[in-house]
Amino acid sequence: MYTSPHALLLLTSFFVTSLGAPTHNSLLNRADVTATQIQKFAPGSATCAAGGQFADECRTADQVVPLLNDAFNEFGIATVGERAAIASLMSFETGDFKFDRNHFPPPGKPGQGTRNLMTFPFIMKYAQNTTATAAKADALSPNPATADDATKNAVLALMLPDDLSFASASWFYTNQCDQSIVQGLQSATESGWENYITECVGTTVTDDRKTAYLAALSAMS
Ligand SMILES: *[C@@H]1O[C@H](CO)[C@@H](O)[C@H](O)[C@H]1NC(C)=O
Repeated sequence: MYTSPHALLLLTSFFVTSLGAPTHNSLLNRADVTATQIQKFAPGSATCAAGGQFADECRTADQVVPLLNDAFNEFGIATVGERAAIASLMSFETGDFKFDRNHFPPPGKPGQGTRNLMTFPFIMKYAQNTTATAAKADALSPNPATADDATKNAVLALMLPDDLSFASASWFYTNQCDQSIVQGLQSATESGWENYITECVGTTVTDDRKTAYLAALSAMS
């Protein structure tokens, strides 16, 4: 039997590829985010206390890993600056991944949730822009502007399965932030991150938010 050196080489490279080398966007994609990195900017995600508050909504860093990486890959979010900004926003908004609905002040704001705690108008846009939920969202709320609280919560419930809930921040960034914001985050500058928070997310820069972003940036770099 004869095996050419060339065939052996092909076989070797086939195995290297199939054993986990990046095959998609390999020039842009960083390595996947790890649980150790997540715990550096979201230390509360090490565990979920059994019987704790919102225990059914809590996810540990180990559980967050595949969900976050799937979302980054789905939306092509490949740079450290973008990933650090999006992941730290998610952990900041949800008390280190402890909940996925607005609870404060009780009983919380109807229709607001997912892992970046989006408000209802954006939850509705996200539902309508997602193949699996678009028809259901339209049927529930033909006119989002006049939806009552129960309807808002019903639309939110469509987006709370983990795969959709953990992708909402990446969806929002991809669809609601303009190109100058994208360039700012890709450059991983503090001013780029501040513009993302104030001009796209639409909230204010605080020391706590900045600390979380810088910790994520350092952990992922
Ligand atoms: C979501 O919105 C984007 C940008 O407008 C569009 O290209 C895409 O087709 C939409 N997807 C769905 C499922 O509506």
